[in-house]
Amino acid sequence: MDPEQFRTHGHEIIDWLADYYRDIESRRVVPEVVPGQIRGALPTSAPEDGQSFDAILADFRELIVPGMTHWGHPGWFAYFPSNSSPPSVLGELLSSGLGAQCMSWETSPAATELEQTVMSWYAQLLGLPQQFTGVIQDTASTATLVAFLTARERAGADPARLVGYWSSEAHSSIPKAARIAGMPISRRRVVPVDRNFAMQPAALDKMIAADIADGFVPGIVVGTMGTTSSTACDPLRAIGEICQERRAWFHVDAAFGGSAGIVPEVRPLLDGIELADSFVTNPHKWLLTNFDCTAYFVRDVNALLQTFSILPEFLRTKHDENTAAVNFRDWGIPLGRRFRALKLWFVFRSYGAEALREMIRGHIALGHELASWVDAEPDWERLAPSPLALVCIRHVPPALAGDEPALAKHNAALLARVNATGRVHLTHTTLAGQYAIRVAIGAFRTERRHVEDVWGLLKNEIGDRR
Ligand SMILES: Cc1ncc(COP(=O)(O)O)c(C=O)c1O
Repeated sequence: MDPEQFRTHGHEIIDWLADYYRDIESRRVVPEVVPGQIRGALPTSAPEDGQSFDAILADFRELIVPGMTHWGHPGWFAYFPSNSSPPSVLGELLSSGLGAQCMSWETSPAATELEQTVMSWYAQLLGLPQQFTGVIQDTASTATLVAFLTARERAGADPARLVGYWSSEAHSSIPKAARIAGMPISRRRVVPVDRNFAMQPAALDKMIAADIADGFVPGIVVGTMGTTSSTACDPLRAIGEICQERRAWFHVDAAFGGSAGIVPEVRPLLDGIELADSFVTNPHKWLLTNFDCTAYFVRDVNALLQTFSILPEFLRTKHDENTAAVNFRDWGIPLGRRFRALKLWFVFRSYGAEALREMIRGHIALGHELASWVDAEPDWERLAPSPLALVCIRHVPPALAGDEPALAKHNAALLARVNATGRVHLTHTTLAGQYAIRVAIGAFRTERRHVEDVWGLLKNEIGDRR
């Protein structure tokens, strides 16, 4: 493809995306396809000869798009959002167009320094203390693994004696990181939560004391700000103080909720973050930056470098001794790194901090409004507080009250009927053993009318099954 053909097709693709964004609401959120259907429509081997771009684009439109789930749809209420705003998409396009591989300062000076800049901007917006330094990772799962590996390295103790602690509501990426970092189940402690699904610090302290008495070493404690099931927020200050006293690494997983830390009235949920050793939050969830883009902040960069820095001859550059030339390859697991800072820079600059705050405020307000509608209905129950735009609910027909298996079946069927409309997409969880429908508000195209729509659908699809 020569530059002129690239120009023509590039314009075509931007036109296609602009139309897609304009009309996205007219699509089903989740396609009506069965496993294997799309693969079955695709050739089983790669073409020997190059094909025309027109043919490729036609197949994209006819075979791929109809099989896509539309995360940018305003009816997206599933999991958490994965927002892909237009400025971010353009930043991503430029980043792939430049094709930079950002492993060291020398391989991409501007990318490295832009990453330092946007991470510093973000730290300021979040009100993080000065000593925190940020780096962009691919996902929160990777960042949490990095935290486990760094904690293990810093502990200096026999790794076979290190114990990890997190609440029963922590994300599955935490035990996954523990497993990869060589911490078997016998050295993983699940701390109980209170009635709001937040970790009980007194129970944590007791568990740590018992482990120390048994000759174990508290290696890492993970607190969550915004759990996946209900956006519960662990008491970070109390946990942090325990970690300081017990000399355990304190990692905070705020993959979804952390973005809301830029909103002053929500910031108290991050109270105590200055006691953390590491903190992860995903701009690729709520902060309008397309997947993938994870912000990982650490208090002691040296601990990170001691864990991940290895300098073979073939990677040496003349700037290695210059502290102004940061080599992000030493700040995580992969050597090669994408230029992710560009899209985050585009987002910060084109929206500005106040518009981002307003969006998050708006989603939280919609969550509170939905919660009030649910609370006003006698046969509906809210199963958790809704601090961060996630509302967990279930329908409780009087005939099924108290019968947990029947309620789970009833609500799962209701969820399936609502999703089958194609207008919205919702997922579920369990809270204290009870089946809950999660309504996660946070897609940037979602307006009040879409929340009214999902609530209307939920009530409507009960039908005569009262
Ligand atoms: C609290 C929490 N932690 C971690 C993750 C994993 O995020 P990632 O997909 O970036 O690894 C999620 C995903 O939803 C989450 O909700």
